[in-house]
Amino acid sequence: MNVHDSEKMAGLLLEEGYKLTEAPRDADIVIFNTCSIREKAEQKFRSELGRMKNLKKRNPGLKIAVAGCMAQQHGKTLSKNNSHVDYVFGPQNIQKLKEIIKTNGPVISIEDNPEIEYTDLPVSRNDKYRSWVSIMYGCNNFCSYCIVPYTRGREKSRPSKNILTEISSLAENGVKEITLLGQNVNSYKSDLDFPELLKKIDLISGIERIRFVTSHPRDLSDNLILCIKELPKVCEHLHLPLQSGSSRILKLMNRGYSFEEYMAKINKLKTTIPEISITTDIIAGFPSETDEDHAATMNALKNIEYDGIFAFNFSTRHGTKASEMDKHVPDNIKSERLYQILELQDKITLKKNKSLVGTIQEALVEETYNVVSENMIARTRSNKIVNFQGDRSLAGKIINVEITKALKHSLKAILKV
Ligand code: 5AD
Ligand code: SF4
Repeated sequence: MNVHDSEKMAGLLLEEGYKLTEAPRDADIVIFNTCSIREKAEQKFRSELGRMKNLKKRNPGLKIAVAGCMAQQHGKTLSKNNSHVDYVFGPQNIQKLKEIIKTNGPVISIEDNPEIEYTDLPVSRNDKYRSWVSIMYGCNNFCSYCIVPYTRGREKSRPSKNILTEISSLAENGVKEITLLGQNVNSYKSDLDFPELLKKIDLISGIERIRFVTSHPRDLSDNLILCIKELPKVCEHLHLPLQSGSSRILKLMNRGYSFEEYMAKINKLKTTIPEISITTDIIAGFPSETDEDHAATMNALKNIEYDGIFAFNFSTRHGTKASEMDKHVPDNIKSERLYQILELQDKITLKKNKSLVGTIQEALVEETYNVVSENMIARTRSNKIVNFQGDRSLAGKIINVEITKALKHSLKAILKV
């Protein structure tokens, strides 16, 4: 989501005649697009921002902007405590960038944008063949650990017409794969619901693959499962964050499903689409998590056998319900649990990758090319990275490869003609 927001900021600046530079020292304006999801992301930004002070001393004309969720949450104090920051604007105010940079500052723009779903912005995309497309903004779920509903505001869906027009124009420009973006993408609801939207996108010629992130388990309907199965362009991959294998913790997290309900959806997915690849997010050490709760998460990983996971230590976010809960788990226990989770999943990922050796997979070839090894990178429909030797002219093409070797994070393959 943040990467795509940065593409929008770059799109707006390009229209104003700006160009991207390689290094901050060459820049007239530096924008930090910040993330608040966990403490680590915030710390990284704070140390980078400190470094900018010297740069500004050497180049007083340099303008420094802070965007994203930290700007939204801490805008006023950021501006007050950092005199070298000129502009602060939240994720709902990207459309004001052109106007903001024409002022001398300081500017703080952190108000809600009641029209965000109608605010279409130019996008400067790096990838020729794969594009992100926002279909909804914000989130209404208020999972008890999560800051997003406070920084990105209420859930709003873009009108389908705007989305379809954007995707058609991407297709005309050679884009082959689109990833629909939303905090809660499968609860999309405008004039169409999410399955109806997928059906319309599936008909756009030139687009060959459709992906979407992130789906909420509670909103995963039978109808959507059927769409993944039946629509030819929708890839057989679902990112379905579980967060915890313990129903008690899920309840405290306000996730809106029990582990049993989640499992029923996984079983339905696997029986309907046997080749489906499923990935997830896990939080280790949510407040009051016991050894038994952690064991339930480990068991869930063993039983479900995800293709991959993202796992994080619980991070206290000020203003969320979880931050006020009792029995916070000590850091060393959180880290030990996270280590166990990642170690177990590494084995499962490798096992799953090994099961693909000898199979033929459809893959979309990316632009990256290693001249020395003649290595190219492609992605399977299940979103796994494949390395193979091939010709540069294959970039952007859909090819068949035979998987020859499985590694932890990628596959090796040979081109099949
Ligand atoms: N602490 C740790 N992980 C978090 N996530 C969201 N908020 C927190 C937090 N406070 C994780 C969730 C979510 C992913 C995007 O980030 O797993 O699915
Ligand atoms: Fe955060 Fe939950 Fe919304 Fe995801 S669904 S953005 S975890 S509140």
